Amino acid sequence: MELKYHRDHRSLHVNCLPPRAYYIPYESAEKAIAGRREDSAFFTSLCGEWGFEWFGCEKDLPEFTNGKYVPKDTLPVPSCWQVFLGRGYDVPNYTNIIYPFPVDPPNVPEKDPCGLYTRKFTCSPKGKRVYIVFEGVDSCFYLYINDRFAAYSQVSHCTSEIDITDFVAEGENDIKVLVFKWCDGSYLEDQDKYRLSGIFREVYLLCRDEGHAGDIYVKPELSRDLRTANVRIECGAPYTAALYAPDGAGIPLENIKDPLLWTDETPDLYKLVIHCGGEYIPFDIGFRTVSIESRRVLINGRPVKAKGVNRHDSHPVKGYAVSMDDMENDLKIMKAHNINMIRTSHYPNDPRFLELCDRYGFYVCDEADLETHGMQQINDWDMLTDSPDWEESYMDRARRLLERDKNHPSVIMWSVGNESGVGRNHEKMANYFASRDSSRLVHSEDASRRRAKFIHNDPKQAYCPYVSLDSRMYPPVSEIKHLYLEDEESTKPFFLCEYSHAMGNGPGDLWDYWQLIYSDERFFGGCVWEFCDHSVLDENGRYTYGGDFGDAPNDAEFCVDGLVYPDRTPHAGLLEYRNVIKPFCAEFKDGVLRIKNRRYFTSLADTYAVWELADSGRKMASGIIPTLDIPPQGSAEYALEGTEVRGDKVYLTVTVKSKQDEHELGFEQFYLSSGERAKLELTPSSFKKTENGYVRGDILIDASTAMPVLPESVSPARFTVWRAPTDNDRNVKAGWFKAGFFDAQTRIVKPLKLKADGTLTAEFRHGISRKPAVWGKVTYAPYMEGVKVTISARRNKRLPVLPRFGMEFELQSRFENAVYFGMGPYESYADKRRASRMGLYDTTARKNFEHYIRPQENMAHADTEYLEIGDGENVAVFMQTEKPFSFNFNEYGSRAMTAAKHDHELVRPGFNVLNIDYRQDAIGSNSCGPMAEGKYRFFEEEFTFEFLMTHL
Ligand code: GAL
Ligand code: MG
Repeated sequence: MELKYHRDHRSLHVNCLPPRAYYIPYESAEKAIAGRREDSAFFTSLCGEWGFEWFGCEKDLPEFTNGKYVPKDTLPVPSCWQVFLGRGYDVPNYTNIIYPFPVDPPNVPEKDPCGLYTRKFTCSPKGKRVYIVFEGVDSCFYLYINDRFAAYSQVSHCTSEIDITDFVAEGENDIKVLVFKWCDGSYLEDQDKYRLSGIFREVYLLCRDEGHAGDIYVKPELSRDLRTANVRIECGAPYTAALYAPDGAGIPLENIKDPLLWTDETPDLYKLVIHCGGEYIPFDIGFRTVSIESRRVLINGRPVKAKGVNRHDSHPVKGYAVSMDDMENDLKIMKAHNINMIRTSHYPNDPRFLELCDRYGFYVCDEADLETHGMQQINDWDMLTDSPDWEESYMDRARRLLERDKNHPSVIMWSVGNESGVGRNHEKMANYFASRDSSRLVHSEDASRRRAKFIHNDPKQAYCPYVSLDSRMYPPVSEIKHLYLEDEESTKPFFLCEYSHAMGNGPGDLWDYWQLIYSDERFFGGCVWEFCDHSVLDENGRYTYGGDFGDAPNDAEFCVDGLVYPDRTPHAGLLEYRNVIKPFCAEFKDGVLRIKNRRYFTSLADTYAVWELADSGRKMASGIIPTLDIPPQGSAEYALEGTEVRGDKVYLTVTVKSKQDEHELGFEQFYLSSGERAKLELTPSSFKKTENGYVRGDILIDASTAMPVLPESVSPARFTVWRAPTDNDRNVKAGWFKAGFFDAQTRIVKPLKLKADGTLTAEFRHGISRKPAVWGKVTYAPYMEGVKVTISARRNKRLPVLPRFGMEFELQSRFENAVYFGMGPYESYADKRRASRMGLYDTTARKNFEHYIRPQENMAHADTEYLEIGDGENVAVFMQTEKPFSFNFNEYGSRAMTAAKHDHELVRPGFNVLNIDYRQDAIGSNSCGPMAEGKYRFFEEEFTFEFLMTHL
């Protein structure tokens, strides 16, 4: 048989059933209610080890339908063949925008790798019909039962169901599935992800009686006042239905009084069991409404906020083949971090994922399996969506999404896809969503972007009426304000389908987005890009990224851009997000703490608060508020005893925790200043001249470099403006190198001189000779307590903003312990500082390091007021300032971090590196998002940095 369907966008499915709602039939009501599909007598899993053989292209395929074919290898189903490294089944390829094949739709290259899967199964139909269901195969497959061609299907992330009754025999049967890496559908699946292939979701058989139910559409309906509910059912076969309330009590389907309403905070589900022939079919039902009123997105009539993330199916070992446990684990992590929304970027997830979202309480933007970003590269982004010839390919994806997922309360909006242009085919998809399901919103970022005023000459803006909300990715806060919220002509709520690109050390802009989101009901919220770093763990247990397997085209580390590592360990960015979107906020004044509940439907009675008042990090008073019985959106006041203390380093920290499992929902910290900063009380002393320079106590000021040398130093300190570029520095780092920030040297232009007042001064230039980055003067003043260093500097305005400015010390590795009073324990910067709090922390050079997959600046502590470095027994160095500073202390230093492309390539230079900085530049989220806001940037042109260095 000629294998032609996968090269023809006019044959999308051959011999497949029309899409229907996902469900599993059971033989009893009890089993249906328990809902474990493996336990259904009608369900036979075909997961497990299959025979397998991989071929570089179709021409290499042997004759495999003659009854003699024996595969050379085996492969588990579900899985992706590329992640079996070393077997030669091509390699994982990470590409973002560029198609991994020449752009010539609908053609894909002749050399199109394929995998042939085979196994046996036994079947005893006994007059029943037999169906085979594939929940996800990338990119398409030909199905053979007992060596007869039975079907063809595509659309990687959607279900294909095939009636194979006429192909199977009683007893043992043979099944073969031939999967191609690319098909015409690959043009519509250009999502930013590893390109992996194979049967990556479960496969199973369903044996069903003749005349069974096909599609079932369950419509829970609520009266306007939300006090009465009805369940409407559309089912093609005769049935009876039973409904059970969340407490298990059987109730009628009509006229349900005061139903429990489903929300992200109250995921109360009713169980519907449809009895049809010999089958019992369960559905979880949630009563809730989604509507738009006065440009606000309302759930059950209340304006709520989307505290979301974008989520891909990804696993460092299994690729796309994530298990139920993996999915559930993701949701648990999200819940524990106050996240309440998921955009299934950019394709439908496993059908059971939505069951979990229903149960855990997540709002879902359910997205069609659609992205054609590679068409932008040939300047024809709309080509496919404008083409009537591709209409069915688009509509197929809309239908397969909606029909499968329509019965889930968690789904609140349908998305026509991501980055796939604007055109007639999208319009048709949107109209399909709206006409088939008036109970949900329709989303298209492309359409909203094209509508935006600054490009309003785009003729395609006519298409935008089909979207229910304005959605954008990565606009700066200011643009959202004036282009959308303040636009009088706009009639839509605003939503960020992507924002705060969480790549590497970041994001730094969450707080500012949320200031605006909370201030305006028309701003629905958004989904951070993205939840998880994508990576493939190699044979040595190391995380890889694009290009590491020689894969091309590739987008290198752009796939590791999540809030959690591939193994789901949180980045500091996730903790930052948790605190920014915490379900409360608080104020403190005159001994009274006022807590506001930011939830919309439930009280905070499941939580309690602990507070602690500390001076210089030492506890002075503390207490517990055992229950926060605060109604939704309400506030309550609590008088805190013993909080009169005021002082330079006095902070009150209030932490709210869950009663159930003690996890932290968030915290607020208040500075209880007396209004004045304590001055350092110092006793003057003098320098002693020595052979190498001048000494005060054990501190030498080296005459040749004009730099301090501590007994623990392995070299004189030096000035530095360099930080190992973060991913968010990716657009500016070339400019940094060009400006010489990396190669910068310090030239002493006026040598070290002892002045009449006993201080030492020198003038310097720091940078490369033709264009210094900084000019300055350093002064050392001798005190009994140590040496006070004052640097007055001016930066070169013609060069880029400095990544940092400060002094770098290289210390013997024995001196590895640090104690600081500053922003900790997580990394903190001018703009990324919501996870950390002022306190007294203990750390070490080893621990004070974040092992990002691509090494980069990390673990600075902004607002530090003092720092001690010691060897575990004695404190050796003590740094103190009147104005807070930022420091880093680790085993690598910025140079080693800059040199390494992967964490495992990091080389320890053999000493610990301490950076004491006047400040660092902002973090932002410019890896894909906007530049950091000016107020966080290192814009000062002249600055003075002062610290006292004590050697003990
Ligand atoms: C967006 C896109 C995402 C992802 C992100 C960068 O433009 O929608 O899929 O590629 O950029 O990480
Ligand atoms: Mg893209």
